[in-house]
Amino acid sequence: MRHTANCQPLAVILLVHAPNLNIIDDRESQLYGKDTLEAIDQRLVEQGKRLGLTVASFQSNAEAPLIERVHAAKADGTTYIIINPAAFTHTSVALRDALAAVRIPFIEVHLSNVHAREPFRKHSYFSDLAA
Ligand code: DQA
Repeated sequence: MRHTANCQPLAVILLVHAPNLNIIDDRESQLYGKDTLEAIDQRLVEQGKRLGLTVASFQSNAEAPLIERVHAAKADGTTYIIINPAAFTHTSVALRDALAAVRIPFIEVHLSNVHAREPFRKHSYFSDLAA
């Protein structure tokens, strides 16, 4: 146990999942596997607990709620963001700007190898800002 009930967590991590990740268990399983997003989140919350970290999760299929959740992270004690921007990886200057604005260090993750897929997936609006 690395912290006690009356201590602050070592870090508060916000998981941000962008469009269509709510249905990953029902998409191309050769790319995304068969786990539900809830199961993945649950594993991360449990791993976080073991390490003394608080892990929260947010998913939306629309750009504005994702941007607003990133803005809210500045005031809610989030110390790190782990984001799978999904299709917005390749399109969203607005979500990139939100992450740049709040200045919370973030890691960009993907379930599939985007570099081994269609050429349009090779470009990310996030990678150069990611930690
Ligand atoms: C993805 C890759 C994106 O290109 C795609 O649009 C997704 C999922 C991944 O996790 O592999 O929706 O971000």
